[in-house]
Amino acid sequence: MPARPSILIARTVFPEVVDKLRQHFDVETTPAGTVWSAQQLVQRLQGKEGVLTTGSERIDAALLAACPQLKIAANLAVGFNNFDLDAMTAAGVLGTNAPDVLTETTADFGFALLMATARRITESEHYLRAGHWKEWSLDLFAGAEVHGSTLGILGMGRIGQAIARRGALGFGMKVIYHNRSRLPEDKEAAIGARYVDRDTLFAEADHVVLVLPYTPAVHHTVGAAEIARMKPTATLVNIARGGIVDEEALVAALRERRIAAAGLDVFEGEPRINPALLTVPNVVLTPHIASATLPTRMAMAMLAADNLIAYLTEGRALTPLNPEVVGRA
Ligand code: DGY
Repeated sequence: MPARPSILIARTVFPEVVDKLRQHFDVETTPAGTVWSAQQLVQRLQGKEGVLTTGSERIDAALLAACPQLKIAANLAVGFNNFDLDAMTAAGVLGTNAPDVLTETTADFGFALLMATARRITESEHYLRAGHWKEWSLDLFAGAEVHGSTLGILGMGRIGQAIARRGALGFGMKVIYHNRSRLPEDKEAAIGARYVDRDTLFAEADHVVLVLPYTPAVHHTVGAAEIARMKPTATLVNIARGGIVDEEALVAALRERRIAAAGLDVFEGEPRINPALLTVPNVVLTPHIASATLPTRMAMAMLAADNLIAYLTEGRALTPLNPEVVGRA
C-alpha cells in the first residue's frame, strides 16, 4: 500500500477539519496560538506534499526551493496575497483559495462596519462606558445618514456586488463603483450600480467601501490624494487588505476631520496596529473578522481541506488559482 501523503495544517483549525484530513493524510497540526516564522514553516514543511494556510503564511520562491516535495498550498481565505503565484507556478505547486463561501457573511460585516462608522456606534459606546453621559442632547454623536446616501465601492467582485445589493435594495442608497473591469450592463442594472472613474468615486460617495484584492500594484492606492477628494462628511471602510490604505494619511485626515470617520477591519502589518490609529476617536477598529461567523469560517476551512483532498488523492483542483499546474506533475 503506498504511503499516505503528509500535510501540514499551518494554523489551528476546527477539529472537524483535522478529522476530515486525517482520513486521507498523515497530518501535522499547529498548536493553538502558534504562528510559524518563515524559517519554522520551512522546517515543518519538510517531506510535506500539502499545506493548509490561513492567508498569513507566505509561500514564496525561497520556501518553495527549500520544500521540493510540496505540491499544493490551500488557503482558507479568499485573498491570496500571501502566495507568490508566479513562483508557485514555476515550481509546479498548485495554489487554491476559498471564494464564494464567505461572500454574504463578509458583505454583512462590511455593511455593519459602514453602519458603525457612519453612526458612531463604538465611539459613543466608549463615551457611555467611560461614564461621560450626563444628559441627552440633540446633537450627541450625530452621525452621517446611511439610507438614501451614495455608496461608493472600490472593487466590484463578488463581495463588492453583495454589498452593493445591500445598499441599493435594503437602504435605498445610490451605488457607484470603480473596478478594473466594468460589469455587464444587465448586472449593473440588477444591482443598481453605476460605473464611475476613481476620482468621481471618492468625490461623490458619502461612504466609500474598499473591497479590492491586494497586489503590490494597489499598495497605498488610497492615500492623501484620494482622501483629499472625499467630502468632509464622508466615511471610509476597509475590509480588503491593510496595505491598500496609507494609514498615516488616513490618521491625519481623521484627526483634522477632513473626513468624518473610518472603519478598518484590516491593517498594514497586522496584527500590529499603527499606534496612531489608536489615538483617533473617529475610527472603528476590528481585528480582521469580516468573514468570522462559525458556519462561514468552517466552510472556508472545509473548502481548503477539500482542495487538499481532491488534489493529492485525485489530481483535481476545486478552486485553483494557477490551474495550469494541474496535471503537470
Ligand atoms: C479572506 O478570506 O481573504 C479574509 O480576509 C480572511 O482572511
